[in-house]
Amino acid sequence: MDWQARPRCDETAAWPLLQAHARTFRQGATAFDLRTAFAEDPQRFAHFSQSAPYIFADLSKNLIDARAQALLWQLARESGFEAHRDALLAGEAVNTTEQRAAWHTFLRGPCTEDGRATPGIAAEVAGARADMLSFADAVRADAGFTDVVNIGIGGSDLGPRMAVQALRSAGATSGPRLHFIANGDAHELAELLPRLQAAHTLFIVTSKTFGTAETLQNARAARDWFLGQGETQVSRHFVGVTCNREAAGEFGTGRVFGLWDWVGGRYSLWSAVGLPLAIALGSQGFRALLAGARAMDEHFAHAPLDTNLPLRLALLDIWQRDFLGMGSRCVNPYHQGLRRLPAYLQQLEMESNGKGVDAQGRTLPFATAPVVWGEAGSNGQHAFFQMLHQGPDTVPVEFIAVREPAHNLRDQHRTLLANALAQARALMIGQEDPGGHRHFPGNRPSTFLLLERLDPVSLGALLALYEHRVFSSGSLWGINSFDQWGVELGKTLAADLAPRLVSGGVAGLDPSTAGLLARLRG
Ligand code: F6P
Repeated sequence: MDWQARPRCDETAAWPLLQAHARTFRQGATAFDLRTAFAEDPQRFAHFSQSAPYIFADLSKNLIDARAQALLWQLARESGFEAHRDALLAGEAVNTTEQRAAWHTFLRGPCTEDGRATPGIAAEVAGARADMLSFADAVRADAGFTDVVNIGIGGSDLGPRMAVQALRSAGATSGPRLHFIANGDAHELAELLPRLQAAHTLFIVTSKTFGTAETLQNARAARDWFLGQGETQVSRHFVGVTCNREAAGEFGTGRVFGLWDWVGGRYSLWSAVGLPLAIALGSQGFRALLAGARAMDEHFAHAPLDTNLPLRLALLDIWQRDFLGMGSRCVNPYHQGLRRLPAYLQQLEMESNGKGVDAQGRTLPFATAPVVWGEAGSNGQHAFFQMLHQGPDTVPVEFIAVREPAHNLRDQHRTLLANALAQARALMIGQEDPGGHRHFPGNRPSTFLLLERLDPVSLGALLALYEHRVFSSGSLWGINSFDQWGVELGKTLAADLAPRLVSGGVAGLDPSTAGLLARLRG
């Protein structure tokens, strides 16, 4: 099937069958119930769980049965999913509104392994990676740099920040101290700068466009501070990661590490945007991260549809969102190192698929990306799990657990794992107390992802799993997951309002904005 002419999910034969089947899930006494489903099918755990590279996934505690699963696979086949996936992996222009590829998988592809010996774009990618990694190793070896500050926002921050945190907790990082500055709110930078010594600090200005207002403001403020400390060598202490070499050069960065316009911001960790992570891990560790992602790419490319984990999770997401009406998903990594994973996933999923029109610009008649939120376990248990267990809304919960800790406090880790298991079980089994405050309805869905250990390889695989899951649901929804026009209007309006905060001019503004502007100036 031609991927550009493939039907949207609601144009398939499976769609109305799924709608009809979903109605039976809600019908009183015969409604689907997880407890009954497990009692009736002793093989349910085996049927709804599977392995993929570095990850075991248990989907059995979700509100899904064999018929729903079969219809969802039918949906994937009928909507030409495989042709679209192959186009993504082959570097075709799947980002249709911007007429370019979304080829982040190429950055970790096997043909980029043999360095400069490979011809064409593969050589360019391999060469750029070799330059970035040798710079990372040089910074690690340079006793002159005690601190490295990455200045970037969104995709130029969330991935590297989350991964550095994750792998630091896993004991995989070393070298200079790493800091991340993203927020347009200068409190973040103002708090960090007094703790640094300008002569021993390296600033990485990471911006695909080198045009993002917050990043440029923070970078200029950091440069002013650096010069104000009596330092002069801006080009040694500021490097750029960008597609826009000219703007980086004008700013005064010395080394500039490039990327390509076909690398989307939220998919860019694998490019030079990963430089802070490469400094934390060293080149070998960074290559291990790429290898883990590549293993998941291979799985995504070749596993049959019924054991293709990214697709299976995406189909479950669609089932929950469009047929069972669930509006959010709560992600709880039971690992302190993964505490920023929910924030990373918010951008990955909500910026990719939070759209109300399909790739052809037609208004979608069904819901798309859910609200993604969450917190590291077990903190969440003492905050919002009350609502997950007893609130009126059903929220699918995603647990991520790591079997082997990176510390020696084994008992405590066992308790943590017991808590993750207990929460998933409590959501499902509930507790009878008719009309009472101790009543837990149960039958609440959850997915359990399990890693053997958290290390660069498994983290790479986990992140690639999420990338492909988001692509898969976006593909079935008919969305272009690789643009983000929805962030532009606010940027334009902010550029108009900033000078008004000085001038006080309110001409053309609505009364609310004008009233608030007057108060903010006062
Ligand atoms: O907020 C929108 C956005 O364009 C994201 O998509 C992107 O990751 C971020 O801004 C940063 O962009 P840049 O890397 O160009 O500074």
